[in-house]
Amino acid sequence: MRDLAGEVFAPFGNYRPLLPKWFRTRGVLTFVSELGGEPTGYVMVAFFEESASQMVADVLAIAVAPAFQGRGIGRMLLQHAIAISEEAAERFSIRAIRLSVANTNSRARSLFFSSGFADVPGDFGTYEGGQKALHMERPIAQPANAP
Ligand SMILES: CC(C)(COP(=O)(O)OP(=O)(O)OC[C@H]1O[C@@H](n2cnc3c(N)ncnc32)[C@H](O)[C@@H]1OP(=O)(O)O)[C@@H](O)C(=O)NCCC(=O)NCCS
Repeated sequence: MRDLAGEVFAPFGNYRPLLPKWFRTRGVLTFVSELGGEPTGYVMVAFFEESASQMVADVLAIAVAPAFQGRGIGRMLLQHAIAISEEAAERFSIRAIRLSVANTNSRARSLFFSSGFADVPGDFGTYEGGQKALHMERPIAQPANAP
């Protein structure tokens, strides 16, 4: 986890020490993809209170090892993050699933756009690597039995 973060997030900052920290943080869910028993990538999701009555799901990190990129694994991991957020929305009031992405990360942005995420207007600062940080979100359909 540390090595993959160090490799794929290097252009944006030093995420090598950060990802294992997030992994150990209570409330952060990590899902690992595997191929033939070998880990190929992961997605991390956490839920935050936006207001007293509403929560939001946050994709903290999504990464696929370079050797396995472009084979549909990133899309599968993201779909899983969306699915568990929709499942959580059956019990809690979850408005949307959101994430941050660098403006230069066109590969990740096309994945997010084609999965129903849209840009959130606003200024969200810059990454350590100097890229502009963009926020994207996708509404979570409220189930009929939602609280
Ligand atoms: C972004 C990332 C998770 C995507 O994972 P992946 O397994 O390579 O993606 P997939 O194979 O599932 O492809 C999903 C979509 O990504 C885009 N994509 C994939 N390969 C691409 C390429 N070579 N060039 C441009 N877009 C590409 C396409 O939109 C693709 O959709 P399609 O399959 O319908 O064409 C992966 O590239 C990665 O780990 N990147 C480094 C870490 C990172 O930037 N994470 C996101 C930070 S917010």
